[in-house]
Amino acid sequence: HKHKVLVTGGAGYIGSHVIRQLGEAGYDVVIYDNFSTGSPQAITQGKLVVGDLGNLERLYQVFAQHQFSTVLHFAASLIVPESVKYPLDYYTNNTRNTLNLLRCCQNMGVNQLVFSSTAAVYGEPKENPITESALTLPINPYGRSKLMSEWLIRDCGVSSSLRYVILRYFNVAGADSSGKLGQFSKNATHLIKLACDAVLDRRSNLQIFGNDFPTADGTGVRDYIHVEDLATAHLDALRYLEQGGESQVLNCGYGQGYSVRQVIEKVKTISGKDFPVIETQRRPGDPACAIANADKIHDVLGWKPKFNNLDKIIHSTLAWEVQKENFTSDLNTNIPIPHKLSLTS
Ligand code: UFG
Repeated sequence: HKHKVLVTGGAGYIGSHVIRQLGEAGYDVVIYDNFSTGSPQAITQGKLVVGDLGNLERLYQVFAQHQFSTVLHFAASLIVPESVKYPLDYYTNNTRNTLNLLRCCQNMGVNQLVFSSTAAVYGEPKENPITESALTLPINPYGRSKLMSEWLIRDCGVSSSLRYVILRYFNVAGADSSGKLGQFSKNATHLIKLACDAVLDRRSNLQIFGNDFPTADGTGVRDYIHVEDLATAHLDALRYLEQGGESQVLNCGYGQGYSVRQVIEKVKTISGKDFPVIETQRRPGDPACAIANADKIHDVLGWKPKFNNLDKIIHSTLAWEVQKENFTSDLNTNIPIPHKLSLTS
């Protein structure tokens, strides 16, 4: 039988990939998105409500119209340097809006939540790989806004019947293997995406932000995870909660780190194309290294990643970036919402 779930930020990069898998698994999906960074083209199924989480009244209406078993909360701002520049916007859009959503869940009797958190809550970890019990000392407003959201969720888990799975994402990249879905966001700042842009001559060079980190080659090290595997983790988390599982905080990564230089070399090798690389200073708020210890998610959810391979991630990002032009050329007119969606406004 069908379960109805609310997906906030469902028009975004990760939310849209999760929705595709939810559709395949027979879930009934309602999307709540304000299209601040999401894209209508990313929505492959579900019922769309265009709304902002700052609008509590609107949110209550949606909860009143539908009986949700679970909320999957993706809607958030996520660019580290931007959060350094505009902290209050991050606390509003991430922390305050999570509070709104929790209040709505509580008052409307929804007691299962899957939350998109981030490795940024760990800040500059003392040890890598990072376990979930490591200290959370975020070093930028983005990480703090997400950690505060986690605290709100945990406190509600104590005070009410709320059960949750908080997923702390490491560096997400790649695209859905259908070829129909990937990262649509125009101002994406992520390394693999920008390197692919350089391959495709959409930018003249790629910058390396910092070559003096305490890492093997001096550049930042990250644990890159394929978006399809991350999406699967959400379905696993959802089923876990449906089976009565207790609240969890789980890292989502592969447990393997690659430096910025290593990523760039791989992009060049895979694409067969060279591009200029400029070494410049560190970006504000960037840690040296973030690698997940992912034992817990394997144990608790039985999560089985299928694309644990940086080559595959880069391949799929490149394939998507090439393919995406077909989408954007059709759609740079003013089609706000695909026809097949039922739009509540
Ligand atoms: N980088 C460059 N040049 C670029 C872009 C990035 O050198 O043009 C470097 C960064 O300095 C960093 C690495 O590549 O060392 C990865 O940077 P991204 O911008 O791709 O991703 P971040 O690590 O900054 O942040 C991402 C998500 C966060 C998440 C974090 C967890 O945006 O939401 O990963 O590690 F919290």
